[in-house]
Amino acid sequence: MKSDFSLLAALRNDESIQRQLMIEACVYLDAEVQAWIRRRTHDPQGAFWVVDADGPRGFVQLTQIQSGSADLGICLAANVRGKGVATEAMRLLATEARQRGCRKLTLRVLRVNHRAIAFYRKLKFSTVDLKRRLHFDGRHWRDVLFMEKRLR
Ligand SMILES: CC(C)(COP(=O)(O)OP(=O)(O)OC[C@H]1O[C@@H](n2cnc3c(N)ncnc32)[C@H](O)[C@@H]1OP(=O)(O)O)[C@@H](O)C(=O)NCCC(=O)NCCS
Repeated sequence: MKSDFSLLAALRNDESIQRQLMIEACVYLDAEVQAWIRRRTHDPQGAFWVVDADGPRGFVQLTQIQSGSADLGICLAANVRGKGVATEAMRLLATEARQRGCRKLTLRVLRVNHRAIAFYRKLKFSTVDLKRRLHFDGRHWRDVLFMEKRLR
């Protein structure tokens, strides 16, 4: 849908989101956004959904679905954060992951992304590793936390 594409293109081109998601900081042309969406939606070991809360508001994804585990990603537009949308999106994501045979969700998050870390802790993810100075964001080397949660 056109409105989904506009939202995804806006998120992809948001500088602070680029930093938080550890993707290259640059301007992504429409064709590059389309290629990213195609990669995510055609990945045989992945799944991708637009979060709809009275319109498109973000996305959630699973990647590297294998051996009972999957890596998750979540990103919401700033104007719907702090409203429980992320919690509901994660509940649905966990249900989908379970249906695809996953018993564990894993993720990576920048140590400076305090809001996301608080969000994951609230959902009972635990930290399993901390890699110092793992990611260069164009200005600084950043520590990265590895978190995971067993699904029931
Ligand atoms: C991560 C994300 C999905 C969380 O969704 P959210 O709606 O912001 O989540 P919440 O409102 O539940 O906030 C999570 C917790 O962070 C804390 N928090 C809120 N605002 C905060 C702030 N400015 N700084 C630090 N912590 C904050 C609170 O403890 C809150 O828990 P509470 O509701 O029990 O008080 C969302 O912020 C987002 O899309 N961020 C941009 C992309 C991103 O960073 N994705 C994760 C990459 S690994």
